[in-house]
Order: sequence, then C-alpha cells, then structure tokens
Amino acid sequence: MFHKLVTLCTLAAVLCEVLSTCPRYCRCLHGNQVECSSSQLIRVPVGLPDDTEKLFLDGNNIAVVYAEDFRLLTNLKFLTIANSHVSEIQDGSFDALSQLEELNLNMNSLRLIKPATLSGLSSLKIMRIDQNHALRMAPCTLSVIPTIESLNADLTRITFNASLFLNASIHHVTTPDLSAVPEEDFVSLDSLKYLRLERADASAINYRIMSLMPNIVSLNLQSTAIQSIEDRMFRKIGF
Ligand SMILES: *[C@@H]1O[C@H](CO)[C@@H](O)[C@H](O)[C@H]1NC(C)=O
Ligand SMILES: *[C@@H]1O[C@H](CO)[C@@H](O)[C@H](O)[C@H]1NC(C)=O
Repeated sequence: MFHKLVTLCTLAAVLCEVLSTCPRYCRCLHGNQVECSSSQLIRVPVGLPDDTEKLFLDGNNIAVVYAEDFRLLTNLKFLTIANSHVSEIQDGSFDALSQLEELNLNMNSLRLIKPATLSGLSSLKIMRIDQNHALRMAPCTLSVIPTIESLNADLTRITFNASLFLNASIHHVTTPDLSAVPEEDFVSLDSLKYLRLERADASAINYRIMSLMPNIVSLNLQSTAIQSIEDRMFRKIGF
C-alpha cells in the first residue's frame, strides 16, 4: 500500500512538471524553484513561471539584464546570477521584486551600481557583489536598500564613503559637499550586521560612516588601504 502511494505521488509530481510550462534549458522544481544554471543562456529566459520564488541563473553568459526581465516575478525571494558575465543591469530591472531577500551577483563584470539599479528591492537582506573587479557604486545607492543585513563587496572598486548613505529621494544624482549636508539627509542602515570590503576601497571609513551602521556585528576590511583608525571610530558600535 505504502509503495503504491509513493509511486502514485511520484507519478503525479512528474506529470505536474511535464504539464506546467517551463522555459527551455530550465528545470522547474518543487517549492517554486527554477534552475537554469550553466545553460549557455545569453538572456534571462522568458516564460518563467509567475510564482517562481527561487531562481538560479549562475554560470551563463548574460551580458545585460534588461528592465523587463523580472517584471512578472513578483514572488521572487532568492535570485542568483553569479559568474554569468553580467556587465550591465538596466535601471528598474528589479522594480517588481519587492519580496526579494537575497541577491547574488558575484563574479561578474559589473561596472556601476546606482540607486535606479536597486530600486524596488524593499525587502532585500543579503547582497553579494564580490569579484566584480571594476565595479563602482554611485552616491545614494545604499540608501535605497535600508533593510540590508549582509553586504559582501570583496574585490570591487567601491569607494565606501558617506556619499553612499545620502538619501536618494532628497539628493538624486548630485554629489554635494558632504560636510555641508545635514545629518538627517543620511540614511542609517540599522539592519546591517555583516559587511565585507576585502580589497575594496575602504580607506575613507571613519567614525561618521560607522555611526550610520550602528548594529554591525562583523566588519572585514582586510587588504584595504585604510591607514588609520580614529580613537572614537567604534564608539557607537555596541555589538
Ligand atoms: C566618495 O566616493 C565617490 C566614488 O564613489 C567619489 O566620487 C567621491 O568623491 C567620494 N567622496 C568623498 C567625500 O570622499
Ligand atoms: C528619505 O527622505 C524622504 C523624504 O524626506 C523620507 O520620506 C524617506 O523616509 C527617507 N528615506 C529613508 C530610507 O530614510
């Protein structure tokens, strides 16, 4: 009896997979996971199921992420496009991804991340952008992901200074003289706990920046050009 039941269930699962539409070169698995890794894709596939929650696009050849690529995937919680030769993400590409919690863009050729790149990611907790060797981050970019808990930016060219914390809805693209900007125009990343900037440009990290991430638990500044640490640098860091 048990055996028959198992066979029946397996059969039903197989049937369901066959019947539901899944893009060519992808496998649509249980738990709303879609696996399209190492499939020599040159674009994010069209026709991904609307209820996809986890999407794996690693190891492809996707040079550009287009603004419409993820427009229908409003249930997506986890997205990985690592090691896929991504050099550009069009503005607004993630606008529909208000549920996304984890984004992995490691080992690509990204050059610039700006506020419009990450707009819409209102639940983002984990972002990995390691080993994008020419990647820079425009002013205000961190302020559009205030829910971030863990940011990995090893081996990038990101200059980690206070301009990244400027509130994008007040400052847009202008980079004012930071010393003249009032305190309240900076966004404090209260959720941020883990920050890795190994071999990134973290030479500007100081007391002011540390005050904007007061709940940090782990900070990695290995092999950066940081030259000195102010006495009070970690004064506001309680954890
Ligand atoms: C902060 O970094 C940006 C590059 O991301 C640079 O253009 C700007 O001059 C830096 N600002 C300060 C105050 O160091
Ligand atoms: C940025 O400023 C606007 C307008 O003052 C405000 O409504 C918004 O909450 C601020 N954003 C953050 C993340 O604090």
